[in-house]
Amino acid sequence: MIPEFISFVTRREGQKFLQLEAGIDETLISGERLGGGSGISLYVHVPFCRALCPFCCFNRYLFQEGLARRYFVDLKAELEQYARRGFKFSSIYFGGGTPTVLMDELLGFIGALRTKFDIREVSLETTPRELTPENIELLKDAGINRLSIGVQSFDEKVLKTMGRVNGPADEVKERLLRAEGRFDTLNVDFVFNFPGQTVEQFAGDVAAFKALGIDQATFYPLMASPHKHDALERKFNRVDNSRERQFYDIILAELYHDSYKASTAWCFSRGERMIDEYIIEYDDYIGIGAGSVSIVRGNFYVNTFSLDRYHETAGSGRLPIVGWRRLSARENLRYYLLTKLFGLKVETDALRNRFGKEAAGRLWPELAFFRASGIVSGNAVLKVTEKGMYPVSVMMRDFFAALNTLRERYIEEQV
Ligand SMILES: C[S@@+](CC[C@H](N)C(=O)[O-])C[C@H]1O[C@@H](n2cnc3c(N)ncnc32)[C@H](O)[C@@H]1O
Ligand code: SF4
Repeated sequence: MIPEFISFVTRREGQKFLQLEAGIDETLISGERLGGGSGISLYVHVPFCRALCPFCCFNRYLFQEGLARRYFVDLKAELEQYARRGFKFSSIYFGGGTPTVLMDELLGFIGALRTKFDIREVSLETTPRELTPENIELLKDAGINRLSIGVQSFDEKVLKTMGRVNGPADEVKERLLRAEGRFDTLNVDFVFNFPGQTVEQFAGDVAAFKALGIDQATFYPLMASPHKHDALERKFNRVDNSRERQFYDIILAELYHDSYKASTAWCFSRGERMIDEYIIEYDDYIGIGAGSVSIVRGNFYVNTFSLDRYHETAGSGRLPIVGWRRLSARENLRYYLLTKLFGLKVETDALRNRFGKEAAGRLWPELAFFRASGIVSGNAVLKVTEKGMYPVSVMMRDFFAALNTLRERYIEEQV
């Protein structure tokens, strides 16, 4: 009942992020105005993949070398826009798509970042197919701190249903082991509650992950897009959320009750590890690339999803933002609360520092609900309880599901 209620409220809140205005006031996007422009993380989207997984909800296109090379040039131009506006990034996250799809361009881009900014940490996503010995060395030399590999499942039947090509499971494991210990953090992504995936198959994935002795895994509940047109893709939209809890309980039993601690409601780590959720660690972030979003001081910005439009705007020295929204004070507070709950703790001092001393009072109904339902406990620092972890996972899933509506609309209409 509580997860269902939370699901309803989060979807409603998430829908508000879809009501965007065109015509941004570019003067608002200024590092100087934002207290010197530091403390803001940078997300870089590389939307190319060698094969397109039908379940994927991100902005991605089939790799074409010419388009990808043009894209990296445009990315540098967009980065330059933010540098000129006084932003100082130290924490970078490369997501996709598949950022490693053109290694020479990626390394050139990382080099450009390092000449402009004092970079402290770089996180990057890739696929098992691209986790070659050569790429591991190149990424290590480029100073990647956290490498995340999208395995999704080791089970060949599940991978087949997903339409995902990873190569044989033994080879994937061998590749992961070769990368293990080479980066500060090695993460493996899995998807759960896939239509047709059994709880036993998922338990097999968790056991296989543990047996590898890798320090971090992120488990994504399958998030559907609302109106996929292709028949295969539509199949994934019949997601049965009533089964999801059983999958989540496996993660809790096998990892959380063992030696892994929860870094977020989806990410489980051993030791001190970096996490992939820049939205938790940084209250503000800029996203560059086609299909990226940014949150800066309560404003939400959406870049174009179209590669051509991205080239026309970023490539000619303009910001490729096509929609934006000034979040209301309440939406801002709720978004802050959502991200911190997802990171499993809300520090009331940090909340007051950011939003003023009335902030905790204004969130009183939400906080009272989370306390009364046993989702959080504590006073100065509210911690998500074990009982609260699944409802928090549902909250984040539904927030992303709402954003998927936006992604899907913008991809289809090539906004
Ligand atoms: C955007 S992908 C990038 C990584 C890389 N391209 C790959 O697939 O290995 C990051 C992760 O998002 C997750 N993901 C993608 N589509 C999803 C969906 N519809 N629902 C839940 N998780 C999804 C997958 O676990 C994937 O590893
Ligand atoms: S899951 Fe990864 S490899 Fe598959 S289409 Fe999405 S971004 Fe590309």
